[in-house]
Amino acid sequence: MRINGVWHRSLRVDEQDGWSVRILDQTRLPWEVVWLRLTDENEVAHAIRTMQTRGAPLIGATAAYGVALAMRREPAALEAVCAMLAETRPTAINLRWAIERMLAALRNLPPADRAAAAYAEAAAIADDDAATCEAIGRNGLPLLQEIAARKPGERVNVLTHCNAGWLATVDWGTALAPIYMAHDAGIPVHVWVDETRPRNQGAALTAFELGAHGVPHTVVADNAGGHLMQHGQVDIVIVGTDRVTRTGDVANKIGTYLKALAARDNGVPFWVALPHSTLDLRVADGVREIPIEERSQAEVTDLTGRTADGRIETIRVAAAGSPAANPAFDVTPARLVTGLITERGRIPATEAAIAAMYPEKA
Ligand code: MRU
Repeated sequence: MRINGVWHRSLRVDEQDGWSVRILDQTRLPWEVVWLRLTDENEVAHAIRTMQTRGAPLIGATAAYGVALAMRREPAALEAVCAMLAETRPTAINLRWAIERMLAALRNLPPADRAAAAYAEAAAIADDDAATCEAIGRNGLPLLQEIAARKPGERVNVLTHCNAGWLATVDWGTALAPIYMAHDAGIPVHVWVDETRPRNQGAALTAFELGAHGVPHTVVADNAGGHLMQHGQVDIVIVGTDRVTRTGDVANKIGTYLKALAARDNGVPFWVALPHSTLDLRVADGVREIPIEERSQAEVTDLTGRTADGRIETIRVAAAGSPAANPAFDVTPARLVTGLITERGRIPATEAAIAAMYPEKA
């Protein structure tokens, strides 16, 4: 990821002390770039719950480092620490995947050996995510090249929802990785960025990172997508995901399902980009079985932004006293998904194709 022209990862071990963990505070973006220093598992849990760090792959990798931080002080507490971190957010399966991987690597080691092994395993998870996302980019790129070839000299319009870029992963992103590669390859790609209420991950985070990379984009209200599709302004939708079932149902940020419906009605291809760590083959029916996080009412009733004189303030936009509901994710049934972009290639969102692509998980 590029900030002010310099390449960073969204998560790293502090270079000075060699053990604490640095994350970008995503609650302060796009106004301020602040690298938080996390020193124990409770600070990691707090960062995940409050969404200082977020995005399915990134919370998995961050939780892995949370286990490593805990192992420095109390290696006998492995199971309890893992259970605590696994409860921080319920929908993204990457969190549980990373914690199960840490448990498998550490459980049979003597406590004295666990800290070093935990750092090594967390680093392997982070490296795997960066490499996986890069491969997703390579496998998604031909979709954008094909559109560009069909309309020479015109821009390629992609619509995306939420943030599935490098801020949601260790590097590159999932849905945004093919876009970065297309832009770097000279394809005139333009991104419609859904603002993504209630927390505005699109307007704040996706717009920030596309801008940092120099990718042309336009922020739109969440409700604009259907209109843009009706008027031929969207060539393709690409979104990320927090969990994909063995049948190809896709959980993602609330509002994704409505985009898939509009895409289907308008003949716009709807693609979902995911790493292997997002697959949950234990689940068949996404709508019935995937737990949907319910977050605080304040995220709906209030908005945070920067005032003209530079202060960051939170204001209430809902009528005083009106209650709000805040389901944070929804499930798009597989029948509305054109296909999945994975690190191993592109496949239809079907049970047979997923099982054939990931036989070791089946
Ligand atoms: O609540 P968030 O911001 O963590 O939700 C993130 C999303 O829904 C992303 O689209 C998803 O995690 C894919 S990230 C590559």
